[in-house]
Amino acid sequence: MCWFLCICHTCVFAILACREYHNLLPWRLFSPTFVIFQEEGEIACGTPFPSSFFSFFLSFFFSFPFLFACNAGLGDNANLAQLQMPAWAQKPFQKTEPMIQNDTFLRALRREPTSHTPVWLMRQAGRYLPEYNRTRAQAGSFMRLAMNPALATEVTLQPLERFPLDAAILFSDILTVPDAMGLGLSFAAGEGPRFERKMDSETAIQALATPDMNKLRYVFEAVAQIKKALNGRVPLIGFSGSPFTLACYMIEGGGSDGFPNVRRLAYSRPDLMRRLIDINTEAVTAYLNEQIAAGADAVMVFDTWGGLLPAAEYRTFSLAAMRRVLEGLKPNAAGEKVSTILFTKGGGVWLDEMANSGANALGLDWTIDLAQARKSVGQRVALQGNLDPLTLLTDPVTVARATEAILRAAGSAPGHVFNLGHGIVPETPPENVAVLVETVHRVSRAMRQTSA
Ligand code: CP3
Repeated sequence: MCWFLCICHTCVFAILACREYHNLLPWRLFSPTFVIFQEEGEIACGTPFPSSFFSFFLSFFFSFPFLFACNAGLGDNANLAQLQMPAWAQKPFQKTEPMIQNDTFLRALRREPTSHTPVWLMRQAGRYLPEYNRTRAQAGSFMRLAMNPALATEVTLQPLERFPLDAAILFSDILTVPDAMGLGLSFAAGEGPRFERKMDSETAIQALATPDMNKLRYVFEAVAQIKKALNGRVPLIGFSGSPFTLACYMIEGGGSDGFPNVRRLAYSRPDLMRRLIDINTEAVTAYLNEQIAAGADAVMVFDTWGGLLPAAEYRTFSLAAMRRVLEGLKPNAAGEKVSTILFTKGGGVWLDEMANSGANALGLDWTIDLAQARKSVGQRVALQGNLDPLTLLTDPVTVARATEAILRAAGSAPGHVFNLGHGIVPETPPENVAVLVETVHRVSRAMRQTSA
């Protein structure tokens, strides 16, 4: 950056000096550095030496403060790769990212010790919150809400205003990616998602291509706005559907009971299935990388339907694709690797293989015993989960008891993020969510004290 400034500064003064002292040809005005460093050439084409010399001298003189800044940043061990400007010079040019004040979630993903077990809930911003329903009504539809970065920011923060959650999750949907591929997504009231065009023929699949990421700019804009609004309070989770789960909705044209057409295609035309998965893999990788570039602190891949597959097909069409996505993720703006979470609903039997996928954490649905899950993955990954979301439809005493049971199963060793085993349901009383969050924090703190 500093050298860039030096050169710019030199250019500007060279232009000014040239303008002032003699009428150079226009091309020379636009390439002043050339003019400066080609003194002999200048003389040869008739430019008077003194004014050219003067322009160089003047520009160098005014560039001096920047050169100074440059050297000050070099420190004792001058290493060009570590070249830094001093803090005062950096300020106006650097995107200032506030430090994350509550980083327990990120620490738990890295299996570092924390003062308490961090907690966030899948679909924490959703229809169980009256304020969400009001903002959604104001937007007119779910998609208009998700496509408006200011409103998406508002609903992302709503659950954090009510409960001391340890992470925020981007408000969006996994189906934005196939929508950007031109499939035409809509959510009819009371029904699930619908696509105008399905990937139910060879022609349709052959014609499919990865989307232009500019079509998803509203998502990345939302990430940036949420980060700004959070101001470092808690980390922000970005997310995507897994290549296979997206393929499920794309083939079937919406939600379905068991996705029969998807399974039939996987068995009868694995070549077509592979093509669809490859396109989705590329799209999901690019999509998550854009979220990371916009400021997401961790990313989660939702493989809601991978558990429908037989083991061999799960490995080929779901797990291998997710592994490729993880391999393709780039570091964030600070050059750090962003932590990743893989969640295959119904994937309890494959935890051992999932733990070798490169993910930092695995999400667990409610059917798996957390203590047993820990045994099968060892210390390779953190675990996230896994209270049955329907527990929240009972009463505060039952919620507290079930929450405590999960914490005991997880134990006090680092590497547990409390969550539900799937998304919170719209009928959930918010008071029960408050009990859950309070219990996680209180009991996990006490467990650490007794084990210390
Ligand atoms: O967790 C969060 O708070 C972030 C937001 C989020 C939504 N969807 C908002 C949403 C996330 C992470 C998702 C992921 C998602 N979307 C998944 C994977 C996780 C899972 O639940 O299995 C899937 C399969 C979808 C697809 C989807 N979106 C369905 C099937 C539906 C309709 C069913 C339903 O629960 O209503 C949606 C709509 C949707 N996505 C809503 C919300 C808050 C409800 C829409 C509304 O407000 O009417």
